[in-house]
Amino acid sequence: MHKFRIGIIGAGTIGRTHIETALKNPNVELVGVAEPFEAGKAWVQKHDIPWFASYGDLLDRAKPDGVIIATPNDAHANVAVDCIQNGTAVLVEKPIADTLANARSICDAAQAKGLPALVGHHRRHNPLMREAKSIVDSGVLGQPVSMTAMCTWYKDDDYFKAAWRRESGGGPVLINLIHEIDLMRFIYGDIASLQAMTSNAIRGFEVEDTAVVMMRFVNGALGTVTLSDATVSPWNYDLAARETDRFPQQDINSHFFSGTHGSLTLPKLEVWSYKDQRHWEKPISVTRSEPLRASPYEAQLNNFLAVMAGKETPVCSALDGLRALEAALAVRESASSGQAVQLAKS
Ligand SMILES: NC(=O)c1ccc[n+]([C@@H]2O[C@H](COP(=O)([O-])OP(=O)(O)OC[C@H]3O[C@@H](n4cnc5c(N)ncnc54)[C@H](O)[C@@H]3O)[C@@H](O)[C@H]2O)c1
Repeated sequence: MHKFRIGIIGAGTIGRTHIETALKNPNVELVGVAEPFEAGKAWVQKHDIPWFASYGDLLDRAKPDGVIIATPNDAHANVAVDCIQNGTAVLVEKPIADTLANARSICDAAQAKGLPALVGHHRRHNPLMREAKSIVDSGVLGQPVSMTAMCTWYKDDDYFKAAWRRESGGGPVLINLIHEIDLMRFIYGDIASLQAMTSNAIRGFEVEDTAVVMMRFVNGALGTVTLSDATVSPWNYDLAARETDRFPQQDINSHFFSGTHGSLTLPKLEVWSYKDQRHWEKPISVTRSEPLRASPYEAQLNNFLAVMAGKETPVCSALDGLRALEAALAVRESASSGQAVQLAKS
C-alpha cells in the first residue's frame, strides 16, 4: 500500500490519540493538524507536526487524501461536508453529528462524491469485539434473549470545562452511550424500539448526567443500559477493556448477553453454559478465551487507509454512524415524551 497523506482536524483529547496513532503508521504521512485554539496549537507544534489555523488551510495547503475529524460534535457535519466536497475522504469521530439532518448531509455528500466516510466507533475494531460477534453468530448462546450493559463511572470537574460537553450537542448520551448503542448493534443487530429516562439531578447541566434505557432488538431480544458519568463506579467498558492507557484497568465485565443456551460477558469473553442438562439447580460452567490485545485506534486507521485504497469496506460506515445517532437521539426524545420510540428499519 502506498503512503496516504492524512490530516487531523482538532487536537484535543482524542485528536491527540489519532495524531500519535498516525505517527506510528508506516503507511501514513501526517501532513498536518488543523487546530484553531492555543492549547492544541502549542501541543501540535511541540511535536514538530505541521500546524494549520483552520481546516480550510489544511485542505488547501497540505492537500490530504483523507482527514480524521476530532472536533466537538456540533462541528462534525460542516467540517466533514466541506472536506468531502473538497475531494477528501473522512473518518469522523462519533457521534457522526449532533442531529440526524446533519448526519444525513455527511452520508449524502459522500455518496454524491463517491468518497469514503467512516465513523469512529472504534470498539468495532477491537479483536475482542470481533471474537464476541463470532461467538454470538456461532449460535452457542442459542436464541438471543437479553442483554445488559453498565456504563457508569466518574468524570472529573476539569472534563466539563469544555462547554460543548455540557450542552445539548454533547452530554454522556451522545458522547458515551452512543458507543454502547453501536456495540449492541454490532453484536445483536438493529434496535427496533426503545424507551428511556434521563436525569441531570447530580450535575445540573443542560444535558443529562444519568440515563436508563430499555430496548427491543429486531432479533427479538430485550436490552437495558444504565449510564452515568456522575457515579463512583468501575462498571464501564472503558475501564475494563484496556483500549487506552488513559484509564487504569479494572477486572470487571460491563456487558452481559444471554440466550436460551448460554451467556457471554464483555470484555472478559466468558461463555457460560450447562455441560449437560439446562437446569437452574445444576452447576453452570464457564469457558474463558484470552482475546488478542491490539489497539482499536490502529486497526481503525488501517481500515480507513484500506477503504481509501479500495481494498476493504468500512468496518463502521456513515450509515452505521447515522443509525447509532438515531437511537441515541431517541433516548432523549423518549425521556422527554415518556413514550417508547420506534426506530427506522435498516
Ligand atoms: N472514539 C473515542 O474513543 C472518543 C473519545 C473521546 C472523544 N471522542 C469524540 O471526539 C470528538 C472530540 O472530543 P474530545 O474529547 O477530543 O474534545 P476536546 O474538546 O478535547 O477536543 C476538541 C478539539 O477540537 C478543536 N476544535 C474546535 N473547533 C475546531 C475546528 N473548527 N477546527 C479544528 N479544530 C477545532 C478544539 O480546539 C479542541 O482542541 C467528539 O466528537 C467526541 O465525541 C471520541
